[in-house]
Amino acid sequence: MDTAALNTLLCPICGLDFSSLQDRSVSCANGHSFDIARQGYLNLLTGHGTKFVPDTAAMVAARDAFLEAGHYRPLADGLVETVGPLLHASASPVVVDAGTGTGWYLQQLLAGLSQDGRVAPSAVGLDISKFALRRAARRNPGAVNIAWDLWRDLPLGAGTADVVLVIFAPRNSTEFARILKPGGHLVVVTPLPGHLAEIADAAGLLGIQEDKEAALGESFGAEFDLINSRELAAPLQLAPADVGNVALMGPAGHHLDTVELGDRLAGLPAVTEATAAFRISVFQAAPSRAGA
Ligand SMILES: C[S@@+](CC[C@H](N)C(=O)[O-])C[C@H]1O[C@@H](n2cnc3c(N)ncnc32)[C@H](O)[C@@H]1O
Ligand SMILES: [Zn+2]
Repeated sequence: MDTAALNTLLCPICGLDFSSLQDRSVSCANGHSFDIARQGYLNLLTGHGTKFVPDTAAMVAARDAFLEAGHYRPLADGLVETVGPLLHASASPVVVDAGTGTGWYLQQLLAGLSQDGRVAPSAVGLDISKFALRRAARRNPGAVNIAWDLWRDLPLGAGTADVVLVIFAPRNSTEFARILKPGGHLVVVTPLPGHLAEIADAAGLLGIQEDKEAALGESFGAEFDLINSRELAAPLQLAPADVGNVALMGPAGHHLDTVELGDRLAGLPAVTEATAAFRISVFQAAPSRAGA
């Protein structure tokens, strides 16, 4: 794991640095110790658990298969173009991927940024799903992947991140503002209205949720100002199995009738054309809040 990324972390119990970094665990000077799972992620979630229902193994596998098929590569390329210039001024850049999922976007970003002999930034991935983190740790073995609930105070020091990435994931704007370096940026990806509209019925997508997401794309609470935003559209050619993965990988995947989905997929042609439509928004801490 990346030592610079490990050095951004704080003990979630007492807030001290992790002074001892072992192969299989990290601990602070007060003796609070946390395991690095056999699968390579660091489990900082403590005792009392969370009410949140994480994505299931099947949902995570569907997301990973869909992303791995490359359908959203234009978004990954857009992220490299957007994030690269935001890191240039930093001597030892750190990127935090909030809700890293299976780590596919972070992997593409790190690969894209390290082209032409450039050094990739240190990276921290946060997610609450251990199924997702197992894959994220395999994809990004150099990053520090952490089991954490984004709605709790984040286990990272103030002013440690150059960029916080939020790709279809929860937004804890107060905490994102705290962990960003002065002048750091928050990069948020949201679906646009019409995203995958062609397969919304076949895949049983939760339309209201998508619209709500889209409406949030241009705002991020009082902590941040919008610096710029860019829309991306990608034409997709989807086999029935791809549509099935879209159905399973989103929030609808929690309560999906797989028999009914199978019937709907059987009625699809060999290729269904659809359009993925995203917005990448870049925010910076509002001056009145900077350093607050
Ligand atoms: C729609 S997925 C997006 C994952 C990844 N960014 C991507 O685009 O492939 C949302 C992710 O947020 C994670 N997530 C949802 N609520 C969370 C929470 N409260 N704390 C941490 N992670 C959370 C889920 O486990 C899931 O991996
Ligand atoms: Zn401690």
